[in-house]
Amino acid sequence: MPKPVNFAVVGLGMGQHHCKAIARARGARLVAVCDTDEERLLPVAKEYACKAYTSYAAMLKDPEIDVVSVVTESACHATMGIQAARAGKHLVMEKPVDITPGRIQRLERAVAAAGVKCACIFQSRMDACNIAIKQAVNAGKLGKLIGLHGSLPWYRGPDYFAGIHGTWRATWAIDGGGSLMNQGIHTLDLLIFFGGAVESVCGFHDVHNHNIEAEDQAVGCLRYANGALGTLFTTTCCVPEGPQVIYGYGSKGSFRTVANRLDLYAMGSEKDRARMLERFGRDAAATDDAIARDPMAVGTDGHLMIIEDLVRAIRENRAPVIPLSTARHAVEVVCALYKSGRTGKAVRVATDGR
Ligand SMILES: NC(=O)c1ccc[n+]([C@@H]2O[C@H](COP(=O)([O-])OP(=O)(O)OC[C@H]3O[C@@H](n4cnc5c(N)ncnc54)[C@H](O)[C@@H]3O)[C@@H](O)[C@H]2O)c1
Repeated sequence: MPKPVNFAVVGLGMGQHHCKAIARARGARLVAVCDTDEERLLPVAKEYACKAYTSYAAMLKDPEIDVVSVVTESACHATMGIQAARAGKHLVMEKPVDITPGRIQRLERAVAAAGVKCACIFQSRMDACNIAIKQAVNAGKLGKLIGLHGSLPWYRGPDYFAGIHGTWRATWAIDGGGSLMNQGIHTLDLLIFFGGAVESVCGFHDVHNHNIEAEDQAVGCLRYANGALGTLFTTTCCVPEGPQVIYGYGSKGSFRTVANRLDLYAMGSEKDRARMLERFGRDAAATDDAIARDPMAVGTDGHLMIIEDLVRAIRENRAPVIPLSTARHAVEVVCALYKSGRTGKAVRVATDGR
């Protein structure tokens, strides 16, 4: 048996999900947690019987730690990732990797220079239904891709944006935006996962029904590098909230998912269609999408798979399943949509990060 890969987690809001996933992951062991807020830190350290650090710099000096999961506020990610890479630690980076493509590129350079691995979180990419759709699209079963449309009609109440761990949310400086950068980026990333790189965008964003700085609703039009067109809308205003819906169609068929389950699958052979709907069809009992209203209702299975993949990537000396260059593209598109909203013009997106 190879010796376990030792993980530490910094930032214990969503970071508690990382702890749970690491504790379940094959080949991984949680050895330390770090948060400046002791009220969060101490119960988590006790629950997992691991070391507790209030100082990130001190934690990075711990030779027992092989991997650091960075789960702090979004605008801290790249800086903290660079510090960890320079300390020789492999990385797990929560979404968004950071709030600008430039910061992410700096992290990419630091990771390459240190020769460490960096796995990024976009957990919907690990969902079996989404993987099966992508395989079908790549196999040409949709034909020529024509349209991909995503909507995320969620709700977040005032409490989400208040208190010591809330006021950074929906700020331009620390969250990098509002419903698009924080929540809708998952939906956008799936539109990229299914359709490939986005070449140019037009967008609008505004604050409608919250006392926040960045937007609580954004809409965007996407032109893909392959010529397909897409749309995205994302909000934290919808009462009652609803599930994420993604609709894709091409010259030979179409699909629609609701909360990552198939609601329509019309591509490939009759046998394909029946098999996909049997495996991934949306059944009435499974349509309540708790995460549409509760941010802590995120499951840990996707995180677990990304963590187990990172353990194997370290052992096999290969790239992780979601590398930095892939995760960067969603941030490139988000930033282009915001720029379009600010300038009232269509904006070209850099397409070197898929
Ligand atoms: N993948 C998902 O579905 C998902 C869900 C929720 C949040 N997130 C992401 O996770 C990140 C954190 O979000 P959150 O909701 O947990 O935020 P949060 O504010 O609840 O938690 C952040 C924690 O980081 C700690 N922290 C900040 N700077 C620190 C430092 N220098 N040293 C030690 N601790 C420090 C804070 O004290 C806080 O406890 C964000 O980037 C967010 O976008 C991802």
